[in-house]
Amino acid sequence: MKDLADVVLFDVAAGIAKGKALDIAQSSPVDGFSINLSGSDNYEDTKNSDVIIITAGVPRKPGMTRDDLLGINLKIIKQVAEGIKKTSPNAFVICITNPLDVIVMALQKYSGLPKNKVVGMAGILDSSRFIYFLSQELKVPVQKIKSFVLGGHGDSMVAMLGATEVDGKKITELVKEGKISKEKLKLIIDRTKKGGAEIVKYLEKGSAFYAPAASGVEMAESYLNNSKKQLPCAVHLNGEYKTKDIYAGVPVIIGSNGVEKIIELDLSPEEKENFQSSVKAVRELFDAAKKIDPDLN
Ligand code: 2OP
Repeated sequence: MKDLADVVLFDVAAGIAKGKALDIAQSSPVDGFSINLSGSDNYEDTKNSDVIIITAGVPRKPGMTRDDLLGINLKIIKQVAEGIKKTSPNAFVICITNPLDVIVMALQKYSGLPKNKVVGMAGILDSSRFIYFLSQELKVPVQKIKSFVLGGHGDSMVAMLGATEVDGKKITELVKEGKISKEKLKLIIDRTKKGGAEIVKYLEKGSAFYAPAASGVEMAESYLNNSKKQLPCAVHLNGEYKTKDIYAGVPVIIGSNGVEKIIELDLSPEEKENFQSSVKAVRELFDAAKKIDPDLN
């Protein structure tokens, strides 16, 4: 819908892919975009893609955590990785499937694609949720709020309060001035962590669509247009943030070479500690994944 590229929707259920593609294509005269859109269950039809966005897998049911999806989605992602490796080994791959950080790491290992070309979408969505909730509470337009939510895409995610500004003012200042209470801020952070589950609970079948899609597309856009935007994404860390050989959410620059740079923010001691415990949670879940599939060792 942003005229970024031709799109092939892929699903093992070909009818769903074809039906959705046709439905979206039929909105192009109204919305004024002109790309080729098709649906398929054949990897050959996606051959030599520039970008692949993966949402394949089972969504949560009410009451489930993202981690509960590990076993089933690992199997699905293994098949997807093999399909991509054969047909689009040069693609920039954006993973959305949960549990995000572990699945994107497994996807990189299974596919063997370069680490700078395999990234996970989470930070943009989590930051966006946090900014939206703050905007609702403080009655400030979303455009005037800046923030980052980093770490793993789970209950351990970390809202970077040191980097959170509302209309040019640090959120910590607003707390001092009594514009927002510590308790209220804590509730908003908690709502952000559970932002996905809140939607799952309403939908009963399926999880969030629109905000995850917008977030994934922002990453694709920065890659395709070489805009070198700074975006919080789940990427492979190799010593940055004192963290090695695991995927976690940090700010990165995305351009035509994929992840071009990892930005190391100056974290407060508390943020550092929270980030490390978030990474630890991801590591533990990856260890569980290795037990399920020894190919990940
Ligand atoms: C979410 O948080 C799907 O993980 C995604 O809504």
